[in-house]
Order: sequence, then C-alpha cells, then structure tokens
Amino acid sequence: MSQRLAASSDDSKLRSLPADLDPARLPAHIAVIMDGNGRWAQARGLPRVMGHRAGVEALKTTLRLCSDWGVRALTAYAFSTENWSRPGDEVNFLMALFERVLQRELQALEAEQVRIRFLGDLQALPDRLQTLIQEATSRTAENSGIHFNVCTNYGGRRELVQAARKLAAQALRGEISPDEIDENRLASELFTAGEQDPDLLIRTSGERRISNFLLWQLAYAEIHVTDVFWPDFDQLALLEALRDFQSRSRRFGGLDGLTDPGTLGS
Ligand code: FPP
Repeated sequence: MSQRLAASSDDSKLRSLPADLDPARLPAHIAVIMDGNGRWAQARGLPRVMGHRAGVEALKTTLRLCSDWGVRALTAYAFSTENWSRPGDEVNFLMALFERVLQRELQALEAEQVRIRFLGDLQALPDRLQTLIQEATSRTAENSGIHFNVCTNYGGRRELVQAARKLAAQALRGEISPDEIDENRLASELFTAGEQDPDLLIRTSGERRISNFLLWQLAYAEIHVTDVFWPDFDQLALLEALRDFQSRSRRFGGLDGLTDPGTLGS
C-alpha cells in the first residue's frame, strides 16, 4: 500500500505473513471494536479526542496488514447509535475526523483497490460527511481488494429491527409469504448483505462486551479480547489475535471428532 495508508516506514516487514501462521487458516473477515482511545489519551495527559486521532493511525495499520496478509474483509466499529450521547464537542470532533480521513485517504484507498463501505443509518450524519461517504463508496465499489466496512451510526438491534420492517413490508405487499423468511432472507436485509460473517472479533482495552455490534453476524465468531488500548494496537497485537484465532477449534455447534458426545457443541 502507499505511504499514505502505511503507518510504518518498514514496508518489507509488513508484507510477509509470519511463518508460524497458517495462511490457509486466516480469518476471511475480521471485525474490530476499537476501544480505549479516550483512556489512551488521558493516560498521556491529552484531551480524549487525541486518542481518536491516534486511533485512525492504528486502523490504517490494521487495514494495511489485513490487506497484505490476505484477509478479505475488515469491519470496524467507528461510531455507534449510542455514541451521540457523548459530549457535543467529542461528537463534532469525530464527525470532522471522519471527513478529514476520507478526504485525505480516498486516493490511497482507490489506488490500493480497497472497497470501502459505511454501514449504519447514514442519513443522521452531517451532509458534508454523507457526500464524502457517497463519493468514497462509489469510487471504490468495483475495487477488487479488501472490503473495508466502517460502522458509523450503527447499532445491531436497530439493524435487525430495520430488516424485520423491510421483510414485513414485503410480506404485506404480497411479495413474500412469512414462511419464506429464513436466515438467508433476513441476512440479505442487513447492512452487511453479501459479506461473509466475521470469523474473528477483536476487542481492545480489556472490555468483554459485544456492545450492540453485529449481533446477528457474530453468531459463530471467535472473540479475542486484548488489554491493549486501540491506539496501541499494532502489528504484534494483530499477530497475537491471529495466533489466538488459529489456536481455536471452530465447531459451529457440531462436534470435532474427539469431543465427548454428551457435550453440547459451541
Ligand atoms: C472508542 O474509544 C472509539 C471510538 C468511539 C471512535 C473510533 C473511531 C476512530 C478510530 C476513527 C475511525 C475513522 C474512520 C474514518 C474510519 P472510546 O472513546 O470509547 O475510549 P474509552 O473507552 O477509553 O473512553
């Protein structure tokens, strides 16, 4: 990737997947809850918003590594439906930050074949940001590289309610019968329609909650929690998450051969 997206100057180190990781068993889709920006800044005597600024750099590093190592999709929780309740100054800073990042990085995202999409109720965002989002989405829609999804004004429950409403409206119009509503049809009405479910969820700053993130899509994701604050999430932290992921036995509710037949799958 270009220097713009690159947070490190040592390109060669970033491109090759470390030998102890099996490229065939990498997660195809990683979701991240980027937590701890405020605490990272406060610990340095800085205003909380400086943590968000540093968080952008960590996100760029993560996107770049995921792209270089062959992860097909990265979905990041940038702003939840609940985040509007933060102090007005912080909300305004975040909106302005999203705008600045989009303006600054769009060319690099295009050049590196990243396909960017914003998932959430976007109409509530400032008009200028909506315009930039539309431009970035359409300019990268045909790109063949990593899918980069930025959840903005996103809430998992709201997403499910919206999907239920759409399906109910289709049923009322006689386009589908209620019996035809199955998991595939519901998934096709979510913001993530067409995207494979995440295999791995990473949450930083030690919190062990899902926080209304991808409630449907994370059904079988492996969860990696690290104490690292998001701005400090670097190559080593991502490697630890991937090693943790590769150490898991994924059974999707079934049994993996050697398991006690009396044990419920998970
Ligand atoms: C959570 O930390 C982080 C956020 C609410 C914002 C994350 C946003 C970014 C890193 C910017 C991404 C930008 C683009 C355009 C992709 P927190 O404030 O909850 O931290 P705390 O738990 O320490 O208070």
